[in-house]
Amino acid sequence: MLLSVKNLSTEFPVKKGIVKAVEDVSFDVDAGEILAIVGESGSGKSVTSLSVMGLLAEPGHVAGGSMEFEGKDLVHLSEREYRELRGNDMAMIFQEPMTSLNPVYRVGKQIVEAIRTHENVSKKEARERAIDMLRKVGIPSPEKRIDDYPHQMSGGMRQRVMIAMALSCNPKLLIADEPTTALDVTIQAQILDLLRRLRDDTGMAVLLITHDLGVVSETADRVVVMYCGQVVEEAEVRTLFDHPMHPYTLGLLKSIPRLEDDDSKRLYMIKGMVPNPLEMPPGCHFSDRCDSCMDICREKIPDLVDLNGHKVRCFLYENAEGEAKSVSAIAEAEAEAIADAEAARDVEASEALLAAEELREAEIEDIEEASR
Ligand SMILES: Nc1ncnc2c1ncn2[C@@H]1O[C@H](COP(=O)(O)OP(=O)(O)OP(=O)(O)O)[C@@H](O)[C@H]1O
Ligand code: SF4
Ligand SMILES: [Mg+2]
Repeated sequence: MLLSVKNLSTEFPVKKGIVKAVEDVSFDVDAGEILAIVGESGSGKSVTSLSVMGLLAEPGHVAGGSMEFEGKDLVHLSEREYRELRGNDMAMIFQEPMTSLNPVYRVGKQIVEAIRTHENVSKKEARERAIDMLRKVGIPSPEKRIDDYPHQMSGGMRQRVMIAMALSCNPKLLIADEPTTALDVTIQAQILDLLRRLRDDTGMAVLLITHDLGVVSETADRVVVMYCGQVVEEAEVRTLFDHPMHPYTLGLLKSIPRLEDDDSKRLYMIKGMVPNPLEMPPGCHFSDRCDSCMDICREKIPDLVDLNGHKVRCFLYENAEGEAKSVSAIAEAEAEAIADAEAARDVEASEALLAAEELREAEIEDIEEASR
């Protein structure tokens, strides 16, 4: 096990209360594995990764739980020890490379400095390594582009430079927070392909943070779904796509348009909005938006139960003792969740048709009125 996060809670005390940005989050990352964390905006993906990297900004702090990297406790690491770890074994890339690249220095100088901060090598040697690294991440004519300033490069190129910089210390774990969100689809595919290739070549593990299920399905081995600071489902990537269990995951998957979809039905939308973190509903965080909500869901927070490696946090699958239900009850619950989502979509579709009909009638009336 490379990284093990157990029951992590991260909080931000604000004027009106405490924002529990990350609540009881657990997951493991194995060496050489690509683990994706997926969830809507505000679900706690970035705060989770910043907690692991020891980069939380005040007043954010880890309020509970444990994090271990190669067996080393991260929660009580000193700032100096953390800096050493970040330079050598863990690296992070962000959505917008311009926030991490300094616009006034040539990219080569920045990579050379990153290398020389962690390793005792000459400038010449570091420059050669930097050129090599830029070639590895697919920058054409790296011996020329190394002297470019960041603004002389395209977004995709800058993201490659960021990756080159992050890789300059041969990390065992790369945390990539929305690394392709700012890029167009073709460049996005190239960057994801690059991450996979680097993992294959170097055995580096990747914690990939994204809100895009398409990115997850193309890149990850395993996936953790987060909602309002909690893990609601975790599974191997194929299992999650073929066999989603949590109503939130079902909703996310149903919201993706598919070519084979029946045109008579509108695309499914998860109803309502993500709750304000200071006004979380009692019980299940998803209860206000869930098509399968039951009485118990408004009273208690469900546990994350493990069903043979497929983990899910939902009372459809958990019995009163907090344990996984029987196999047959689980199969029934899954069918029920799918039927509830479909029924909600039918209601939405018929409401939409009704609204369209009313609009058309009103328009006809307006035209008749005008012609009178
Ligand atoms: N500095 C802060 N002060 C108060 N609350 C914060 C702070 N930073 C983050 N939060 C809160 O923590 C929660 C999780 O935020 P986070 O940035 O991790 O979301 P995310 O899943 O990365 O979303 P996105 O997809 O938009 O990047 C949000 O409710 C956010 O409002
Ligand atoms: S616990 Fe209840 S409200 Fe929450 S996702 Fe499951 S069925 Fe829906
Ligand atoms: Mg984020």
